[in-house]
Amino acid sequence: MIIIKSPQTRDEFKAYYALRYHVLREPLGLPHGTEKDDYEPLSYHYMAVDDATGQVVGCVKLFEKEPGVGQFSHIAVSESHQHKGIGRLLIAEVEAKSRELGFTKLGTLTRLTATTFYEKCGYRSIGITGTLYGRLQMMWMEKDL
Ligand SMILES: CC(C)(COP(=O)(O)OP(=O)(O)OC[C@H]1O[C@@H](n2cnc3c(N)ncnc32)[C@H](O)[C@@H]1OP(=O)(O)O)[C@@H](O)C(=O)NCCC(=O)NCCS
Repeated sequence: MIIIKSPQTRDEFKAYYALRYHVLREPLGLPHGTEKDDYEPLSYHYMAVDDATGQVVGCVKLFEKEPGVGQFSHIAVSESHQHKGIGRLLIAEVEAKSRELGFTKLGTLTRLTATTFYEKCGYRSIGITGTLYGRLQMMWMEKDL
């Protein structure tokens, strides 16, 4: 069974960031460290854990972009566990937390390759915002909560 929880211990945070790096940055040939941003201390962190193995198989983080508006980022599911509904579970978790925090809107900056996933979760494309590392075009997508 897959459990969604917040990392608490040093080892849990290590596994959480390792998955982020492996899925989102290593394929781009980027160095360790690039999987983190300035919002880490201000963010709510969630990970999906396979309770049979203890393996961290998914991650996402949430922060307040501006008053009343949440932004989630760095969503990733390990290759072996993709297309099994874990991405949807992670989105449901950040949406629930956003409502609890009183956010009325939630959005994300996404690669163009993932927009269909977010559309299936109810997000709409607002506009292209620029590029990540000068090579990936990014789209801002959002949803009213
Ligand atoms: C994008 C990602 C987070 C989705 O997580 P997931 O667990 O595979 O997604 P789910 O199984 O919950 O899929 C939900 C729906 O979205 C679809 N979907 C998932 N990833 C998709 C993709 N890249 N393109 C198109 N559709 C996608 C699924 O087929 C499913 O559709 P269905 O409900 O009609 O069957 C995951 O595939 C991933 O980590 N990809 C690589 C990293 C990445 O691109 N992250 C996003 C950076 S912006």
